[in-house]
Amino acid sequence: MSAAPLRVGLLGLGTVGQGVVRILSRNAEEIARRVGRSVVVTHASARDVSRAREVSLAGIEIVADAMQVAAHADVDVIVEAIGGLSPAKELVLAAIERGKPVVTANKALLALQGNAIFEAAQRRGVMVAFEASVGGGIPVIKAIREGLAGNRIEALAGIINGTCNYILTQMSEKGQAFEDALADAQRLGYAEADPTFDVEGVDAAHKLTILASIAFGMPLSFDKVSVEGITKVTPQDIKIARALGYRIKHLGIAKRTQAGVELRAHATLVPEDRLLAKVDGVLNTILLQGNAVGQIGLYGRGAGGDATASAIVADLVDVARALGSDARHHVPALAFQPASMCELSVMALDDVVSAHYLRVTVADEPGVLKAITSILAELDISIEAILQKEPHDGADASVAVITSQVPEHRFNEALKRVRQLPFVRQDISRFRVEYF
Ligand code: HSE
Repeated sequence: MSAAPLRVGLLGLGTVGQGVVRILSRNAEEIARRVGRSVVVTHASARDVSRAREVSLAGIEIVADAMQVAAHADVDVIVEAIGGLSPAKELVLAAIERGKPVVTANKALLALQGNAIFEAAQRRGVMVAFEASVGGGIPVIKAIREGLAGNRIEALAGIINGTCNYILTQMSEKGQAFEDALADAQRLGYAEADPTFDVEGVDAAHKLTILASIAFGMPLSFDKVSVEGITKVTPQDIKIARALGYRIKHLGIAKRTQAGVELRAHATLVPEDRLLAKVDGVLNTILLQGNAVGQIGLYGRGAGGDATASAIVADLVDVARALGSDARHHVPALAFQPASMCELSVMALDDVVSAHYLRVTVADEPGVLKAITSILAELDISIEAILQKEPHDGADASVAVITSQVPEHRFNEALKRVRQLPFVRQDISRFRVEYF
């Protein structure tokens, strides 16, 4: 291979950064055959320069000051693997300003500041590639942006946080406690630096923001996503959901409806025979509904160093191929031509229509079931399934129902009335139910 190598400046040598070094080295030959030149990390930044790492960093000039790498004259492309908003944003903008393409895995940065970043990149005519920001190693960005370019995308739904899926799987299959499963996910390098981003649904909402933007051609609108996590999912809910024939998964959901776009991330009951119910551990799955192709699904490792590096390196290959070409011929970063992006009206959660799961702890008295079902009937909420768990040793009983499709505000009214029943305890669970 005679062409000069593509020189990568790597910001961050954590799990993802080390994964990039490892994959570029392990697959060097295959990558060079694809690009027509080799791709090598020549410069890197790390907070602790001297810390021992699992990969060989031989030949890489490592400094503590990331800006030095982002602005380095001998670097052709920047990989941002630091995460967080600042200084990642300043570094990305500094690289763009110097005409350097950027590859980033930073979903938080793109979800919150992406509109400004993509605008700067467009002005300067450089690529900002972000395959690794959603779904780890799953090439979902490319699939939506290029593979489905002939479709109007109607909906997408996915398990897009590996940590949540890992925790829910461990709780469900192994009876592990929430805290222990979370600690394992952190040890395995799946969780965010701040794991509340995972378990409170924020990471999934970041990713959903990106997916909805490229699927529907709307600006990145993180502040319009309704966000809930998995911290309210109890072992009892997991057990009762199973008894009713469902699994509890954390989903990101984006749908176009007559009333507007739905953008929501929350724990969801999914019938056990559906694909999403069968995706366990750190695996992610994204289902996409196009008006030409119908439904497709993408499945794979959604977190972890090597999986994420797989997506980053794919972006590096794209960048290398496009370097020096006219930016007007690049695939638009957000899939649609920048001038054709449209603000779409996003529905308030109150107006979203879905089925619901409700579990109520009640004193074991006559008339309890009738009182609950009467409230639902008064509000024209039909019951699809119902389960009563008998009390043991003087403990309270549990009643769980799955409702028909109902607007959220009507279900909330039912919930309010149920709460006021004298025999109902405070321990009430509610989750949406979806049938993708
Ligand atoms: N914390 C993220 C997850 C990492 O668990 O999915 C990948 O984005």
